[in-house]
Amino acid sequence: MQKVDESQIIKVTNPRYRQQFHISTPAGWLNDPNGLCYFKGYYHVFYQFHPYSAEWGPMHWGHVRSRDLIHWEQLPVALVPGDPEDTGGCFSGSAIVKDGRLYLIYSGHHYFGDNDQDHFWENQNLAYSDDGIHFTKSEHNPIIEAPKDNTQHFRDPKIWQKDGYYWLILGSQATDGLGRALLYRSTDLIHWENRGPIAKAKDAKSEGFMWECPDFFRIDDTDILLYSPMGIKPVAHNFLNVSSVCYQAGQLDYDQAQFNHGPFWELDHGHNFYATQTFRTLDQRRILFGWMSSFDDPMPEKADGWAGCLTLPRELHYQKGQLFMTPARELKNLRESKVASEATTLDQDYFFDYTDQQHSEQLITIDLAPNTVTKWQLTSAGKPLLTLTADQTSGEITVQQGDLKPRYAKFGGHQLRLHLYIDTSSVEFFINDGEITFTERYYADQPIQTTVSANQALPVQIKAYHLA
Ligand code: FRU
Repeated sequence: MQKVDESQIIKVTNPRYRQQFHISTPAGWLNDPNGLCYFKGYYHVFYQFHPYSAEWGPMHWGHVRSRDLIHWEQLPVALVPGDPEDTGGCFSGSAIVKDGRLYLIYSGHHYFGDNDQDHFWENQNLAYSDDGIHFTKSEHNPIIEAPKDNTQHFRDPKIWQKDGYYWLILGSQATDGLGRALLYRSTDLIHWENRGPIAKAKDAKSEGFMWECPDFFRIDDTDILLYSPMGIKPVAHNFLNVSSVCYQAGQLDYDQAQFNHGPFWELDHGHNFYATQTFRTLDQRRILFGWMSSFDDPMPEKADGWAGCLTLPRELHYQKGQLFMTPARELKNLRESKVASEATTLDQDYFFDYTDQQHSEQLITIDLAPNTVTKWQLTSAGKPLLTLTADQTSGEITVQQGDLKPRYAKFGGHQLRLHLYIDTSSVEFFINDGEITFTERYYADQPIQTTVSANQALPVQIKAYHLA
């Protein structure tokens, strides 16, 4: 395998926006989470990584591991591109353990060499490791080549095991220009049989021209196809990001390769959420990580030699006909001290008054009344950087991030339960037990101040923890 050129590795020049408890690179660019798994006593997370600059570039696989899902240790780069099977990059993929060996299955990205970044081809490859640290690319690579009815978009294999087979789902674009998910199966991880598309976009504008990072799993007796479609056009207050994360729920008939499913939904409503991947913990919980993406906005941390981070681990559940996301229960272990705990009335703005609000968790429960407008706000040097507004009359929650266009979600009920995690440069909102989430970045050069307010004197319960 190619080696990282240590002399070219970029360094962080300013720690001001560095995250404390989110996975990010030591320096350099990060995008999708890859290869989530548990192997020999550790959780492993890999990520799309460019170590030589804070911009996207030839993709490597960065690597961290953890015993507890919250404290992460950086490991050497796991995959370096430039071998015949991945001349232009080691793109996204997943992991599986077979006979005590950890296998990564990933996309090889290749350019035609005509200086056109949009002219490429892709194939699928394997790498393996016995110690979970050093990886060898398989002599059988490439193990899957694109079928004839596919365009150049053919990537991001997500693997699982069921009923004596290994299965994988691949992100693809059919030659008619529509996004789809292809199902494959194998008995040895090397020879794969294409079982065909299990779902496909109706049209490119409403369902995407390419489905990146597909994932497939069973949860609460329901099969979920989760993916990141590209090119969906906004409809009213939905699909406002450049690319979205969507899912469809149903039942997969594995023999017929038929997925009977309902309509698709957006998973998170924030500005910074893309390219998710899930895995199952030893105790069978389904955990998701996403990329706190920002392809369309400048990321101020680029000036400091790094870019991007992953979301916190989130537990998924399927209930009331939709996916719920809650913070992984391990995150409670980040709590260092309780810094607020009270029941009061919002007859005036409530100011959180503890120090280091940038590393904290807040739980806020507000009893609503008709026509109430409630607000949570993060300011720095008097400037609002993030504002969440829940308006009972419109039944809508709005999140404003700096000067960007807002994002929205529908809400109902008589209580607003906000659970949020603030890190140096992000806030993740889990609302009403995970029914609604917003994933957001912010950039403060002075300490932050958070407040809660309402247009009426509503009862509120407040708790906050300092995290370390
Ligand atoms: C999603 C994605 C994947 C691809 C990877 C490349 O963000 O475009 O489809 O494998 O990023 O870095």
